[in-house]
Amino acid sequence: MASEQDVRARLQRAGQEHLLRFWAELAPESRAALLAELALLEPEALREHCRRAAEACARHHGPLPGLAERLRPLPAERVGRASRSDPETRRRWEEEGFRQIALNKVAVLLLAGGQGTRLGVTYPKGMYRVGLPSRKTLYQLQAERIRRVEQLAGERHGTRCTVPWYVMTSEFTLGPTAEFFREHDFFHLDPANVVMFEQRLLPAVTFEGKVILERKDKVAMAPDGNGGLYCALEDHKILEDMERRGVEFVHVYCVDNILVRLADPLFIGFCVLQGADCGAKVVEKAYPEEPVGVVCQVDGVPQVVEYSEISPDTAQLRASDGGLLYNAGNICNHFFTRGFLKAVTREFEPLLKPHVAVKKVPYVDEEGNLVKPLKPNGIKMEKFVFDVFRFANLPPNGDPPAICEISPLVSYSGEGLEVYLQGREFQSPFILDEDQARELLQPQES
Ligand code: UD1
Repeated sequence: MASEQDVRARLQRAGQEHLLRFWAELAPESRAALLAELALLEPEALREHCRRAAEACARHHGPLPGLAERLRPLPAERVGRASRSDPETRRRWEEEGFRQIALNKVAVLLLAGGQGTRLGVTYPKGMYRVGLPSRKTLYQLQAERIRRVEQLAGERHGTRCTVPWYVMTSEFTLGPTAEFFREHDFFHLDPANVVMFEQRLLPAVTFEGKVILERKDKVAMAPDGNGGLYCALEDHKILEDMERRGVEFVHVYCVDNILVRLADPLFIGFCVLQGADCGAKVVEKAYPEEPVGVVCQVDGVPQVVEYSEISPDTAQLRASDGGLLYNAGNICNHFFTRGFLKAVTREFEPLLKPHVAVKKVPYVDEEGNLVKPLKPNGIKMEKFVFDVFRFANLPPNGDPPAICEISPLVSYSGEGLEVYLQGREFQSPFILDEDQARELLQPQES
């Protein structure tokens, strides 16, 4: 274990020696706990985190200046409207989604690392009973929808299939969530198909860039936002787990939606048929001030602008039909291909800029009294899950779609194609018949 001297020297390098100011009065076990916590904070990274937090907070928080001129609504061809599409189109999307589920290519991933302070409960939000006569919790409803969608896909395709459930938690939610699942026998899911993993935490910082102590022996730590997903996927080798299971498509969703359709075949099918790297399910915004992010374009690039960052004037703009111009309300239901998630964890994650959240953070004052502030006093830095959208490859627009015909004699319903196609490029139109398949299996001349 790191010694007091070591930790003191590291904190000095980070400009955060004040974190040991109650050292003299701490009992041995409190000292050990504090040292263990502080030893995890790498000095240079900590210095940088505090500097960036204070600087970003001084610059702005709230609506982003100059954003309005850079915004445009999404082009119509990027949006699939489930409610306004003809039944045939909807059926095609849904069919494709079910097909992928039946092939075991779809997983769901729950973002459940948030502290749930607004709901005002002390336990993870998923354990909340939403007021149904059955007294079911959010977690139970979600588990049951997974079981049901597996069943529906299985019935359609005459197979048994699995939709693995990945659950991202944080230090605050992992213990109680895991316990709750065990107590409820994983809601009759196979525990081998429920994978829990933990996101990282970051220290909360004052407006002057000093880390906040929430007790004499404890730093105020908070999860690093739902965009902490990408580091967590890497930390816990989750994409490798998905690869082992053959998962290609992931439905990522937030915990507090009682209606959430896990692995929604229509949404999955639409995204897959678009050839999209990622997608966002949206609901039409009800009124300008509704606290939902909007999916739109910034400088021509599709992304989500969060409700805390759009100005009220922009939120109120109207389109020619009288509806809100920015009406694509984000409901934190996203689609990603595993390939895209891999590119994000490898290349793009460090490029994500944290957002500043100014919050009331309980702290100990100079005299050692616990204070529950009435006004915001601290900064939490959070990455957002949807900030990776701008790195996605957009499927070509307006170009004719690529044509590839696969003979049923080569593949009955998409199985076994890897040996012919993996790592190769083909010209459209491309016909994979028996002859072509035989040729592709020949050893390549070097
Ligand atoms: C989120 C969306 C917002 C959308 C709204 C409506 C983000 C950043 N914002 O806002 O655009 O309109 O939902 O549904 O996605 N979480 C973690 N780890 C964290 C923080 C949060 O896993 O560190 C999880 C929460 O547990 C929750 C989800 O992310 O499941 C959404 O987070 P929350 O902070 O509740 O976002 P909202 O303000 O509701």
